[in-house]
Parts: sequence; structure tokens; C-alpha cells
Amino acid sequence: MKSINPSRRQILATGATVAGALAFPMVASAQAPIVIKFSHVVAEKTPKGQGALRFKELVEKKFPGRVQVQVFPSSQLFGDAKELEALLLGDVHIIAPSLSKFDRYNKKIQLFDLPFLFDDMAAVDRFQSSAAGKSLFEIGRGFRGLAYWHNGMKQMSSNRDKLTRPEDVKGLKFRIQASDVLEAQFRALGASPQKMAFSEVYQALQTGVVDGQENTWSNTYSQKYYEVQKTIGETNHGVLDYMVVTNAKWWDGLPADIRTGLSEAMAEATVYANKLAGDFSKEDRQKIVDAGKAKIQTLTKDDVAAWRKALDPVLQKFEGPIGRDLIQAAQKSNL
Ligand code: SIN
Repeated sequence: MKSINPSRRQILATGATVAGALAFPMVASAQAPIVIKFSHVVAEKTPKGQGALRFKELVEKKFPGRVQVQVFPSSQLFGDAKELEALLLGDVHIIAPSLSKFDRYNKKIQLFDLPFLFDDMAAVDRFQSSAAGKSLFEIGRGFRGLAYWHNGMKQMSSNRDKLTRPEDVKGLKFRIQASDVLEAQFRALGASPQKMAFSEVYQALQTGVVDGQENTWSNTYSQKYYEVQKTIGETNHGVLDYMVVTNAKWWDGLPADIRTGLSEAMAEATVYANKLAGDFSKEDRQKIVDAGKAKIQTLTKDDVAAWRKALDPVLQKFEGPIGRDLIQAAQKSNL
């Protein structure tokens, strides 16, 4: 066996140390950051759009060079029919679909689509912060709920001159999100519901494929529905909110410190997005008034009572799959 003289050994040892010292920073700098793809379907200037950007900002500040968040707004990456599947396949890591879009995966979340369940957004907020509300984060099927984000109460719009009474929508075609509760809601009103992806709604309204739709002030303004609808009835008949969700397996595989940091950033972005949602609802309603295109019609107490009566059978119909306890817990949040 060839002996290695001390000077050679020393050289080799020094060489190894130098190589190690050089290699480590190379490995560190070459190590790719964790890339988180956050996809959604609305415009950037909306509560969800801004919430996603705030989350990115907070995460990248917490983990410079270690985590990168890429936000894809306006259905750029996946439309709402596909984003839940894409999340399960690992093609995106975080999405924030409207609660209606969990219909295929979890029947209890249909709760949020029940008409006239919540009096206002404060009641929605109280329910979402309660133990019953948080229990819905356990969606199953590979999803993990991280937070609720608000958008706001829904209003109905149509291409007719009047929209204050349930009979004003009878016989009209309405675009709805892919939800059986929303389908039952419009059937109870004698209207014809059509499930359609969010990205297709403007054109469908413009070309008369559908006569009307229901949405929040923020979506009605940012998607320009008010330009292609004659009337918006201020019905406040339901809520359109979001659940921010991730792929449970991907999330559980993240380093623990990153998971903690992401949860903290999500909590902060949630407070921010939910405050913005209230501001957007007021401002976007006013912008629609100022644009002078669709006219906004408000409802009397008598009108609201007529809508509630017409839609009451929907609550009865879905009490079984959603669960009476959950419905009662939600109703209790109306003070
Ligand atoms: C959204 O706000 O994410 C879309 C809602 C809709 O499909 O109407």
C-alpha cells in the first residue's frame, strides 16, 4: 500500500476543506427555492386578488430566497372548473375557490349557498370564526382548508327593467356557479339556472346566452357585468366567500418552519383581505352607480319577505345533506 507522506496528506486534507467550503455555498446558492403556485379566477383589483398578493409579499419577506410565491390571477392558469383538480394533482399549491365550488367534494360546505341564511357579513364572519365554521376546513379528499376570505353578499342582476320581487326573475335564464343549492334556488323561483365557469359569464350576459346572474358588488364591477345588465336588485340574498385551500399531502411534506411561517402569513393576509372586502363592496357599488349603466333597485321589507318565502323550500331540501346542527349554528350567528 502506498503511504501518503504528511505533506501530501496535508495537501489533500486542505484541498478537501477548500473543496467543501466552496461546494457548500454553491449548494446553498444553487438550491432552488420552494415555489408556491397560487392560482385564482378573479382580477387583481379584488379582495381575493389583493389578498393573494399580500400573502406573497409576507411569505417572501419571511423566507428570502427560500420560498417564492407565484400568483396567477384571472383564470390565467386554471379556470374554476379545473383549479380544484389541478390542486389535487399538484399542478398548483394554493387556490381560493368560492365556497360554492366545493359542492362536488363536500356537501356540508353547501351551507354557505343557502339563501337568506346570514343576515350580513358580520354574521358570516362570526360563523366562520366559530368552532363549527372552522370544522369545515376538514374537507377531506386530499384538501386542507387554511382560511376563509370574504368577498361579500350577492345581488341579482338581469337584462329586464325590474328586479325587486321573486316574480321578476321567473322564466329568466340565470348563470350560476357549479352548485346544486344554487340550482335549486333558481328553480324555486321559476327561473332556469345554467352552471357556467366564471370566465365565461361576461360574454354569456353580453350575447344573451343568459339573462342574469348573481354576484357580489366587487365581481359585478371588476367583471363589468353592470355594462351588460339593465338592472341590479339589491337582494343580499346570499354570500359569496372563499376558502383558501391547499393540497394536504404537499402541505404536510413542507419543512415545519416553513409551514409555520406560511400559516402566520396566511393569518395576516386574511385580516387584510377581509377588511378590503368590506371596502370594495361599498366602493364598487358606488362606482356602478356613478357609471350610470345598470340601475340599482333596492328592496322593501315586504319584498325581502316575499323572497324569503319563495326560497324557504331550498333550506328544507338541503337540511339532510348539510345537517340541521350546522344550519342552526350558522343561524345563531345572526344576532
Ligand atoms: C370568484 O369570485 O372566485 C368567482 C365567483 C363566481 O364564479 O361567480
